[in-house]
Amino acid sequence: MQNLAIIGLQWGDEGKGKIIDYLADRFDAVVRYNGGSNAGHTVVTKSGKYTFHLIPSGALKGKKLLIGAGVTVDPIILNDEIELIKRHGINADVLIDGRCTLVTPFDKELDISIEEMRGGRMLGTTRRGIGPSYAMRALRLAPRAIDTIHEFDYDSMLRFYERILGKKVRLEDWLRIARSVFKDRLCDASSQIYEINERGGSVLFEGSQGTLLDILYGSYPYVTSSHTLSSYIATSLGLPGKYIGKVMGVVKCYTTRVGGGPFPTEIGDGIADSIRKIGNEYGATTGRPRRIGWLDLVALRYAIRVNGVDEIILSKLDVLAKIKDFKICTAYELDGEEIRDFYKVLGAMDNVVPLYDNFSIDEIEIGNGISGKVKDLIDFIEKELDVNVSIISYGEERERTIEL
Ligand code: IMP
Repeated sequence: MQNLAIIGLQWGDEGKGKIIDYLADRFDAVVRYNGGSNAGHTVVTKSGKYTFHLIPSGALKGKKLLIGAGVTVDPIILNDEIELIKRHGINADVLIDGRCTLVTPFDKELDISIEEMRGGRMLGTTRRGIGPSYAMRALRLAPRAIDTIHEFDYDSMLRFYERILGKKVRLEDWLRIARSVFKDRLCDASSQIYEINERGGSVLFEGSQGTLLDILYGSYPYVTSSHTLSSYIATSLGLPGKYIGKVMGVVKCYTTRVGGGPFPTEIGDGIADSIRKIGNEYGATTGRPRRIGWLDLVALRYAIRVNGVDEIILSKLDVLAKIKDFKICTAYELDGEEIRDFYKVLGAMDNVVPLYDNFSIDEIEIGNGISGKVKDLIDFIEKELDVNVSIISYGEERERTIEL
């Protein structure tokens, strides 16, 4: 069986957690490969609602869980998360690549003070220390998970923090928790995946954030600090590109973003409030209200290309069914020119005028299949994006999913 990558094609919060949980049964392991505890992947089951920040969303299905080298790991949050789900009777079989960079409490302090320095141009980060941690890795000052167990030059890192933060810093308590959470949980994720594939098994790669938040290919500088594209799976996990397998892109049938930055299809009136309320569009990590906009096919064509998307999963159709009339952006207009290529507006996203088509759809009932209007909407999206929609999701619960 083939490996499968689930990638967010917008600005994150596409509903990937539910889809990972839904598909996890078919795989031997679920693997996180990017970001860190800035992610918030929500899974709803009959026994309750779970939001995972670091542990892969296959946890509830009892799958092997791997955290790859390209993820930045906050040992305190990981420890809390493992303990929390243990209290719910779930023993997460999670292994962490020894090469994962770690988030220290001082990365969080830096995250907050760098945001303050930006003033009115704040990125609106999750304040989880993710950017500073990746920066500390680039400076070769940050410890990796394996360095909490073996020798490491903590002195240089501490001197750096002390100079930047202007105060004495200590890491003993943090290190004690880090050592205990990593003890018996470190692995070489690359060889784990090779072994699973060698014996004929397959793995599910769980993307975090979304394509437009990629540090190179997203709406820089209003992006996260890691890569969100399918190609990062190979680098993060030490795998040749051919091991990525199939790429499925998750698309919410409208758009949201948290934090600052350009948003061409943002809705400026009360409809945004209705969608936010119906769709419960509040950050799973920070609780912030998400900004709301219409589906943007210009951005999606780009996201499909840079990820090599094979199939689309269309999520949250129940939300638009409750909105009488909604729009979809098919192209932008800039200086009198019609634009379909996202790259062309990278430097002028605040100035584009979205061009819209109008739609309405009916509610989807469990067990009743999809109606004509929903089918027309799917056909339109498939034609515009030149990719098939293979799964639709119309509610938080697992059973509100249809494979087409
Ligand atoms: P950071 O990743 O915390 O540095 O935040 C940088 C930007 O990415 C901010 O706009 C965040 O709101 C956004 N971001 C980070 N993680 C997520 C996520 O999981 N979903 C949606 N937006 C995110």
